[in-house]
Order: sequence, then C-alpha cells, then structure tokens
Amino acid sequence: MTAHTGKARLVLIGTGGTIAGRGGSAVNTSAYDCSVLGIDEILTGLPAAAEIADIRTEQLFQIGSENFGTAHLLQLGKRVAALLQRDDVDGVVITHGTDTLDETAYFLHLTLKSAKPVVVVGAMRPPSALSSDGPLNLYHAIVVAASRDAHGKGTLVVANDEIHTARDVVKTNTFKQEAFRSPYGPLGYIVEGVPRFYRLAARRHTVQTEWSIAEIHDLPEVGIVYAHGGMTDHGVRAMLDTGVRAIVYAATGNGNVAASVVAALRDARSRAVHVVRASRTGGGVVIRNAAQPDDRYDWLAADDHVPHKARILTMLALTGACDADALQRAFLTY
Ligand code: DGL
Repeated sequence: MTAHTGKARLVLIGTGGTIAGRGGSAVNTSAYDCSVLGIDEILTGLPAAAEIADIRTEQLFQIGSENFGTAHLLQLGKRVAALLQRDDVDGVVITHGTDTLDETAYFLHLTLKSAKPVVVVGAMRPPSALSSDGPLNLYHAIVVAASRDAHGKGTLVVANDEIHTARDVVKTNTFKQEAFRSPYGPLGYIVEGVPRFYRLAARRHTVQTEWSIAEIHDLPEVGIVYAHGGMTDHGVRAMLDTGVRAIVYAATGNGNVAASVVAALRDARSRAVHVVRASRTGGGVVIRNAAQPDDRYDWLAADDHVPHKARILTMLALTGACDADALQRAFLTY
C-alpha cells in the first residue's frame, strides 16, 4: 500500500452477485446479468468512497453466491485472515451475491481471529437499475469498515441503512430492497454516512470461538432436508446414501418431525450421521427434548439457528470434537 494518509486503509474484495450485475435497461430491477462488473468498475462508480478510506481492491471470484461452495468459503476466509494480519490493513469489505451472503458472513464471523472490521455487502438491484441499492450499500459498508466503532463486533452485514450481526441476519425476500432482516433487529444504522450502534451480539464470535480459519483445511459435508406436509422419508434416506456427516432437518414448527421420518433419522444416528433439528419457520427456537426426545434419539436441537446457518455451524463443529454433547454445546454457545 502507499503512504498512510490517516484515513482507514481498507481492502475491498469482489466476489460477484447483483452488486456486480448489469441489466439491459434501467427498469430491469429483477432480471439482469449477475457478476459482470469488476470490483474496480463498481468502485469507480462511487467517488465518495475515496473521501472515507484508502481502498485497495481484489477480485477474488466473479460468481453468483448460489455457486459458493466449501472451497470458496475457505479461500475467502483465508484471504481475509491474511489481510487482517497486515499492519497496513484496517478492515475488509466483501461484495457478495445476496443469496448466500448470510451464510458466508456467518462462516467468517465464527472463524476469523481479528477484531478488525469485516463487512459483507450486496445489493438487491444492480447498479444499472433505477434506485439501485448497490452504491449506497457499498458506501455504507465502507463507512462501517472504516469506523473504530465497528471493531470487535464480529463480521457485519450492511444493507438498507442497517448494520446487522452476521449471526442473526437472514435474506428474507426474493426481490425487495429490505430483504435482510435480523430476528432481534439490527445492531445499528448508518445515518448521513455515520454508523450508530445500539446493541451488541450476545453470542461468541471471531476471537472468542474455537475455530480459526488458518487451521481449517476442509469442511465435512452436511445436508439439509426440508420438511413439509405429506412428508416421506425419501429425502433423508437419499441423503444418507451421499455420505454426509450430518443432516439438518428443517422441521415444521418448533422442530416437529413427522412420524414417517423418525425411523430414517434414527437410522442416521446408527450410521454415525448427526441429526440437527432446526425449524423452517425462520423464527423462534427449537428446544432440546421438547417436540422430540433428543436425549433418547441422540439428536441435536439448533436453538434459534435457521437451517442454513445451522449447517454452517454443524460443519465447523464437526472439525473438532464430534460427539453429540460438543455439537449441542455449539448451538447454545454461538
Ligand atoms: N445470483 C444471485 C447471487 O449472487 C443474485 C442475487 C443477488 O446478489 O442479489 O446471490
């Protein structure tokens, strides 16, 4: 990096998504090409950013986030960790497709070992669209990453004037700009270019977790089976044949499991595959031994983790002690 100007020194990592998209016309807010603008092009459209921070860019991927796999998480995490170790980097902003943005952010939240700000940001409308949220979301992400107030708060997601903790935030809408929501509300807002924090995430993250991205070289495969009325055991049995190490069961309601699926999930345990009961409702908690006898079946309850976040946490927990007690503890700790 060049001589220190006194501004925060940030690295902006591009990975693709709608924030890097381009439509055929300004009225294409939902139909457009994704992941076509390079990170330098995106930043060029935002001259105000240079007043906030000295920004270096890196194009790590150029993909829709629905294509993010384990290898992408590991590569991104390791690159961010290496950047955060440098004395000339004060924070990192990652542009990302919104589809799995909440999963990537949660993975970083649990595995980075630094108090420096890391902000993941996307857009629901491409920069070419009328009223695109991309430029302002990105400006806000840069403002947050450059702020001393963002230190020690874990990985953050910025969208729609709000600052969310990666633990809680979920994409909840297919096309509207206010797609990102946290069940307990955002940590704060960005108002007139200034971050205002009002609360903290209570659960452990970053430097307080048992996982370090530097020591993770692979992640076990964990699948999700989505429950519905008229449920059969076909999905669980098919997944068992894939060699997964755990199945997150996106159960109905507060973690109910249809009688037609219980035997298959008990077979999973006899094959050393862990069973995590989460809820497809998107809110509330799944309580151990309430809707199902977890102690008897040796199953796990996901607490308030939505199924796709429960999957990230299960993959990480399986890199350490793999007994059910350790896994259950993880759901109640993180
Ligand atoms: N292809 C989707 C993704 O990258 C586009 C969605 C978006 O970025 O808003 O997640």
